[in-house]
Amino acid sequence: MTFRLTRALPPDDTAAALRADVLHGLTRTPKTLPPKWLYDAHGSELFEQITQLPTYPVWRAELGLLRLHARDIGEQTKARSLIELGSGSSSEKTRLLLDALPGLHTYVPVDVSESALRQAGQTLLIERPALSVHALIADFTAALTLPQTPGPRLVAFLGSTIGNLLPAERATFLTSVRALLAPGDALLLGTDLVKDESVLVAAYDDALTAKFDKNVLAVINRELGADFDPDAFAHVALWDAGHEWIEMRLRSLTEQTVKIPALGLAVDFADGEDLRTEISAKFRVQGVRRELAAAGLTLEHVWTSPGQGYGLALAAPSRAGTRTEHATSGSTGLQAKGLPS
Ligand code: SAH
Ligand code: AVI
Repeated sequence: MTFRLTRALPPDDTAAALRADVLHGLTRTPKTLPPKWLYDAHGSELFEQITQLPTYPVWRAELGLLRLHARDIGEQTKARSLIELGSGSSSEKTRLLLDALPGLHTYVPVDVSESALRQAGQTLLIERPALSVHALIADFTAALTLPQTPGPRLVAFLGSTIGNLLPAERATFLTSVRALLAPGDALLLGTDLVKDESVLVAAYDDALTAKFDKNVLAVINRELGADFDPDAFAHVALWDAGHEWIEMRLRSLTEQTVKIPALGLAVDFADGEDLRTEISAKFRVQGVRRELAAAGLTLEHVWTSPGQGYGLALAAPSRAGTRTEHATSGSTGLQAKGLPS
């Protein structure tokens, strides 16, 4: 097996992006931060622990669907390249896909978490001696250059991570994914579906998820020299029925000022003021179909888990879609040229 790790953005860019996001997000009302900053090495580890909680059905539901249908996905796509966005540590779910793709030449995991990608590489090195793995440390919401790899390509975006993007971000993201796909390529998209509010909230309202949520404060403390006291904030999970998304928030338990020396900034929090750290949108199959279609993708098949709690969608470029070439992209988004495979 060959394992390559490419940093698509220099470390300086990551630091600059964090500074820009913190400056923007903490100087507006309401205060927000993009969820990608939850995933340093500790955050990635905490997320993996969350996936095993009995109250967090998302990961298990998708695993169940892949156990049942990975073979169908393999037969329908015959992919020679698997590109997995937000791959994390390329868990058991990824292995099911790898097993179902006998003609697979290259696996391209893409993630902001270097530790998760290295862990994936180490495991695959032992388990899949014949596989070529080219991991990318990259932000899938920004311009991204993928290695040139043989088609057909399957782009997988699992775990309902698409739900962590706002609707407008999802539209841009899906359009960028569409620009990557040539005829014969496919997108496999996991989406957690709208269900009973108590089940949804319980998945985000526990001590481990609170630790995960507060990890973003530790990241800002470490990277920007800030003096956030995690104990001065409470983790809050609430269901926004209008938007059909869960919000994770950190609620200030007191009136306080947090200093962020790297930005020359002092941020005031009122007692009870919230900082939104993540949205996790929940979907309906018709909505998924619509969002895909708007990006030039046709939903070809959707597998749902028993009770309709989770959906795994297979989509292909629409015939009358906007793009059919591998090697081009719009001003933001993913691009297939430029890196050797
Ligand atoms: N796909 C895995 C992991 C989901 S957790 C699963 O289904 O279990 C979400 C993953 O997306 C994390 O590994 C996180 O580091 C990554 N991630 C979050 N935002 C990202 C971004 N903007 N660009 C790239 N990776 C991102
Ligand atoms: C990765 N993502 C889909 C998870 C979710 O459910 O939104 C992240 C997470 N946040 C809290 N728990 C898990």
